[in-house]
Amino acid sequence: MNLQEYKVWDATTRIFHWLNVLCVIGLLTVGTVILNANTLGVNNAGKIILKTVHVWIGYVFVLNLLWRLVWGFIGGPYARWRSILPFGRGYGTQLANEVAALRDGRAHNYIGHTPLGRLAVTVLLGVLVIQGATGLILAGTDLYMPPFGKTIATNVVASGLDPSEVRPYAPETVDPEAYKAMRDMRAPIVETHEIMYFVLLGLIALHIIAVVLTELKYGGNIISAMFSGRKSFSHPPLDGPK
Ligand code: HEM
Repeated sequence: MNLQEYKVWDATTRIFHWLNVLCVIGLLTVGTVILNANTLGVNNAGKIILKTVHVWIGYVFVLNLLWRLVWGFIGGPYARWRSILPFGRGYGTQLANEVAALRDGRAHNYIGHTPLGRLAVTVLLGVLVIQGATGLILAGTDLYMPPFGKTIATNVVASGLDPSEVRPYAPETVDPEAYKAMRDMRAPIVETHEIMYFVLLGLIALHIIAVVLTELKYGGNIISAMFSGRKSFSHPPLDGPK
C-alpha cells in the first residue's frame, strides 16, 4: 500500500493535549475522592488537603487550557479555530458527507479534525472551560485561594479579624450571615462543577472509543499522530493540498 505522510499537529498542540490528559486524570481522580469524602470517612483536615491538591493541579490545567485557547488564533493551520469550530462555509455539507461515508463504510480521511471530530472537540473544550471557570470560583469560595480568595475573604471575615485570618472549615473566622449568603451564591456553581464532572466522564469514554474505532477501521495513525505530529493515508485526504 502506498502511504503518503502529512504534517498535522504542531508541538504546542501535542504538548497541550498530553499535559491536559495528565491534569484531567489527576483532577478526575482527586475530584472523585472529594465527592465521596464523607463516605470514605475523610475528616476536615483531610478534605482541605485533597481540595488544595485538586486546586494546584487545577491551576496547571487552567493555564494550559488558556494557552490552547490563544493558540487557536496564532497556531498552525490545523490547530486554529477555523479548523476546529463546527461552523463556516461548507461545514454542513462536509458533515452530511461524513455521516453518509460512515453509513456506507467508505474512507473519509481528513488531515485535521473530521466534521464530526470538530463537533466533539468543541464540546470537549467547552466542558473543560466550564470546569476551569467554576473550579476557580470554588477555589475562592471554599479555600480562599486565588484568584478570588482575597475578595471572598474580605466579604465574609468576622468582625475584628483581618481577611488574611479567614480559614476554610473555621466558622469562628467568618461572619455567619455573610458566609451563608456567599455559600448560597456558590451552590449552583458547585452543582455545575459536579454535573460537568459526569458529562466529562461520558465525553472522555466517547472520545477514546471514537479514536480507537477510527484508527482500526480507517487507519491514518491518528493515535500516534498526537505523539509524532504526522498522519499517513493511502487515499488523498479531503482537506489536503489540492
Ligand atoms: C477536568 C477538570 C475538573 C474536574 C473533572 C473536577 C472535578 C471535581 C469534582 C468531582 C469535585 C467534587 C464536587 C463535590 O464535592 O460536589 C470537585 C471539587 C472541587 N474542584 Fe474540581 N474539577 C476540575 C477542575 C477544577 C479546577 C480547574 C479547579 C480550580 C482551580 C477546581 C477546584 C475545585 C474545588 C475548590 C472543589 C471543592 C468544592 C467543594 O467541595 O466545595 N476544580 N472537582
